[in-house]
Amino acid sequence: MNRKVTVVGGAGNVGATVARVVASKELADVVIIDIAEQKAAGVALDMYEACPIDGSDARVIGGADWDAASGSDVVVITSGKPRKPGMSRDDLVRDNFEIMKSIAPKVVQYCPDAVIIPVANPLDAMAQALFRLTKFPRERVIGMAGVLDSARMSTFIAMELKVSVENVHAFVLGGHGDTMVPLARYSTVAGIPITELLSKERIDAIAKRTADGGAEITKLVGTSAWYAPGAAAAEMVEAILKDKRKILPCSVFLQGEYGIQDLFVGVPVKLGARGLEQIVEITLTADERAALMKSAAAVKELVDVIGV
Ligand code: 2OP
Repeated sequence: MNRKVTVVGGAGNVGATVARVVASKELADVVIIDIAEQKAAGVALDMYEACPIDGSDARVIGGADWDAASGSDVVVITSGKPRKPGMSRDDLVRDNFEIMKSIAPKVVQYCPDAVIIPVANPLDAMAQALFRLTKFPRERVIGMAGVLDSARMSTFIAMELKVSVENVHAFVLGGHGDTMVPLARYSTVAGIPITELLSKERIDAIAKRTADGGAEITKLVGTSAWYAPGAAAAEMVEAILKDKRKILPCSVFLQGEYGIQDLFVGVPVKLGARGLEQIVEITLTADERAALMKSAAAVKELVDVIGV
């Protein structure tokens, strides 16, 4: 294949899930980079051996040597400490910033033209850290969060209304934290806003469960989620590699859009071959805007902790 996707931290749960989706859908060859070198090699070989069953000619290799990552089209960065039960995503900020500091120079050296998809938490702050550390243009640093949060919200809406998830389109804005903003007015079932189909009480419950979605899994499993986060990052990879120009909620560096300056926050963006092709601005009510600003302020606090 002539496309290459590198997954940093790919021997971990989230990274391995991204890698597996990319390989099984034959989107690109996959390079798994991980400090756990032997595990990376083993996980990659296992995935490679699944490809004949998937009918995919993707090649999957793994190790700790960045040479293999050279010239990647997309680099997904899943390295980082996961949450433990009771921890918030924000508790990880300092530790995971140190990890980003070790990865950024490698990406710059080996994959200077790649689109980076940060996945580690706290997501928006880590995306901002990678943006500052790599000095890549904002079009090529796009954090994964909204796709995951929207998928969770879609699941809960489909469960509630007993409809196919294919009918559901959920929309979540803001930072990937407790202050995220599930937008009911823009969340639809077969094109019908959920505000027409569900009571305010049920919508509020769905919004809360969405915001608590990561903690709910962490409590059950004992560590962070991986299937939905991995699938979400893979959807972004696919949109970029296929130049789909798909509109997805992602964390990007805002420069005045939505009234937010110099900060990574989740908003709807068009994803294509160049990465961020366009930021889509939608009208918000006063309450929605206030919620988005509160969420942006929470991201700003974290960004200030690490000085990026
Ligand atoms: C989650 O929400 C890990 O932040 C991720 O599950």
